[in-house]
Amino acid sequence: MIPQSYIQEVLERNDVVDVVQSYVQLRHRGRTYTGLCPFHNEKTPSFVVYPDTQSFYCFGCGAGGDTITFMKKIANLDYVEAVKSLASRAGMPLPQENDETGRQRSRILAMNKDAARYFYDQLNTNQPQAAQARAYWHRRGLSDNTIRRFGLGYAPDDFNGLQRHLRQRGYTDQEMLEAGLIKRSQKGNLHNTFWNRVMTPIIDLRGNVIAFGGRVLDDSKPKYVNSPETLVYKKSKTLFALNVAKKDPSRRYILCEGYMDVISLHQAGFGTAVCACGTALTEEQVKLLTNYADEVVLAYDSDEAGQKATARSLELFRNTAIKVTVLNIPGAKDPDEFIKRNGADAFGRLLDKSANGIEYNLDKLRAKYDLSTDSGKVEYVRDAVTLLASGLTPTEREIYAGRISEQTNVSKATILNQLESTVRRVSDRQRRQRQKDLQKEMLPAQIKVPHSLGGEKALAAVSGEQQLLAAMLKDPSIIPGIRERVDPQELVMPEDQALCRVLYSMPPQTGPGILATLGSQLDEGQMALAAQLLARNSDNPLTPKDVELFIQRIKQRTASQRQAPQSEEEMRRRLADLTKAKTQSNTQS
Ligand code: UTP
Ligand code: MN
Repeated sequence: MIPQSYIQEVLERNDVVDVVQSYVQLRHRGRTYTGLCPFHNEKTPSFVVYPDTQSFYCFGCGAGGDTITFMKKIANLDYVEAVKSLASRAGMPLPQENDETGRQRSRILAMNKDAARYFYDQLNTNQPQAAQARAYWHRRGLSDNTIRRFGLGYAPDDFNGLQRHLRQRGYTDQEMLEAGLIKRSQKGNLHNTFWNRVMTPIIDLRGNVIAFGGRVLDDSKPKYVNSPETLVYKKSKTLFALNVAKKDPSRRYILCEGYMDVISLHQAGFGTAVCACGTALTEEQVKLLTNYADEVVLAYDSDEAGQKATARSLELFRNTAIKVTVLNIPGAKDPDEFIKRNGADAFGRLLDKSANGIEYNLDKLRAKYDLSTDSGKVEYVRDAVTLLASGLTPTEREIYAGRISEQTNVSKATILNQLESTVRRVSDRQRRQRQKDLQKEMLPAQIKVPHSLGGEKALAAVSGEQQLLAAMLKDPSIIPGIRERVDPQELVMPEDQALCRVLYSMPPQTGPGILATLGSQLDEGQMALAAQLLARNSDNPLTPKDVELFIQRIKQRTASQRQAPQSEEEMRRRLADLTKAKTQSNTQS
């Protein structure tokens, strides 16, 4: 654990407005600052920063928290990394990481490194198995140099080889389980996660081995086995080979679907190829890429799944600063196969011909309609115009309107006209939707209480308990008094109970913003809830009188609940009578 005093100092030296401002353009508005939310796409600002409470909250997407939360989210860091990054921003010496998690983390990393070494060595023994594995990599066109550079290896066909090896090196079974290197079978036996597979280590930006992907040597299933998520491996935040790609001076990245594509592209001289690790691309990975790439070429497989993934990824890149183009890979299932057939130069030419996202989508649309007929033209223009109506600059609209005009012989002026009215309609709709969303967010009465927790009836109590939490967050000095009177169990919503417990367990408040003190004890959802409660009540004084009222609302519900068992009994009896009557009437008819 990083000492609380250190975290306090980090927060004192990093004002939330300063930190946010280096990523988001903020505008002063009374006691708060507003800007466009960096965590979701929006055109009108719903992201608010509160210097008073050193917090931020987005009324559009619900992201919220303190300065550390902001750093975590914007730079894709975990809690400790975010604290460190803010510390170095303020020129502070780093904290001693002697905490338990830190220790566990470095054990897993050391073990992964040993395992990678083991897999590499197993590829190079004089066993027949090893020779087969080497032959496999060679058959896939990889040179020994590439094998070495990517640290590729082989997990032999045994159940416990790696486990024995790691035990010898002083690791416990528990640690190996935590690293995802061994697993417990249904019968309870421990065995290797990977056997008889060629192995690809996944390496993070600092050069740590954080996970593995293992492929079978033939056509059996499953083709790949991947490490589970661990303390050091979060799939949604990892891009394979980014550690290599980041050293390449080019800022045009190639985003592929598979490990093999990436490795074979690197071997062919395309040093910026990366891929997600066995999952669909995530927003976090896109954000990560924006640090390294100005342009991304989507080079997914040419099958249907690949095309779907392309469409999804295009959406994710929309409204980022990255320019996206899409590669069409003719006559091959993926970049790896294309290069093997046609060579690196041909792939380079393909890259230069890649179409941007709009062109790609327009082409796909055009293929849907028969442009030799009038009705085909009309429908194509209608759909194309809708496609162009959001997320484009006026210049881009000009250009594509011109292109559609050429394709259809409809005058460019007509198309631009239609485009303008569509743009207006779309942005009107978006504005109305946003207003609605905002109202929903702002109105405490809109809180949804699950039926199982009392539904509508519990609403007054829930709004009371949330306001009470807000009051404690705003003025922690009232906490001891409330702790005497309200038990967390009296609150309706589980998340409110959790936050309440944390508040009750808090040491006397010092330093700026209460969120700072709570920080390490709240998970992301609880942090966002706390920030939301503060944001909603930023202009509410929440007097002692109000607090009394909130407590009363909570107590009213608990009082009525105490009678509940009786009435429930009663209900059940009535229900039984009803069903009896019904079955009787059914049998009669
Ligand atoms: P592909 O089936 O396209 O694999 O899956 P590939 O990389 O082209 O492999 P080769 O060329 O057949 O050797 C693309 C990616 O999806 C994940 C892997 O990350 C793979 O690289 N995947 C695929 C799995 O995680 N598990 C599987 O069983 C299959
Ligand atoms: Mn593939």
